[in-house]
Amino acid sequence: ARRPGLVIAVDGPSGAGKSSTSREVAARLGCAYLDTGSMYRALAVWCADHRIAADDTDAVVAAARDLPLEITPSPAGFTVALDGRDVTARLHRPEVSGMVSGYAAVRDARRSLNARMRAIIAASGRIVVEGRDITTVVAPDADLRVLLQADPARRIARREAELNGAADRKTVTEQVVGRDAADSASSKFETPAAGVVLIDSTELTLEQVVDKVIGLVPAELREP
Ligand code: DC
Repeated sequence: ARRPGLVIAVDGPSGAGKSSTSREVAARLGCAYLDTGSMYRALAVWCADHRIAADDTDAVVAAARDLPLEITPSPAGFTVALDGRDVTARLHRPEVSGMVSGYAAVRDARRSLNARMRAIIAASGRIVVEGRDITTVVAPDADLRVLLQADPARRIARREAELNGAADRKTVTEQVVGRDAADSASSKFETPAAGVVLIDSTELTLEQVVDKVIGLVPAELREP
């Protein structure tokens, strides 16, 4: 039998648990997985490597349009390549996290990346897509749309644990709070849009969040 199409959109701020949740949901439902933040991170890396500043908007727009970006949207082996080179390991370095919001704020660069996201979604058939504006802009017609939230203190603690002692609490707090503020200028991910289900992960384990999301998928779309 043919597998039914399924698009799940997951938005939220950094540290709310979007990536872990989305990967696990994708693996359990036999879906592809697309981390759209990695596309903005790849744009930032490309621009930094080519000495294009975020305020040089014409050059950023051209870079986004022509970006030689290749994505393998698999939950187990999600990879991003630029011009044939695997840059996945670079994308989450602190210097990239620190500069990505500026590039993501360039409106026409967002349009280019949105078109690529929609092409990947259309080609995949079954996919979990995470980001900031997937439920509202990129895939407002997704089968399930979730906004994942968590208290800032919990998100800061998670980020700190991920960084494994590489940064102190004060630095991590400034980074998380600063990026929330910068990113919320580009997309509205603080409150759920109409039809978007809010899940607060503050007091939940990853397993509980994953079960909640899967429980919200219409039964006939659940079985791959
Ligand atoms: O989810 P993340 O932290 O990897 O995202 C990296 C940056 O990309 C983040 O600062 C905001 C931006 N972003 C965005 O503007 N829209 C998206 N759909 C996804 C990410």
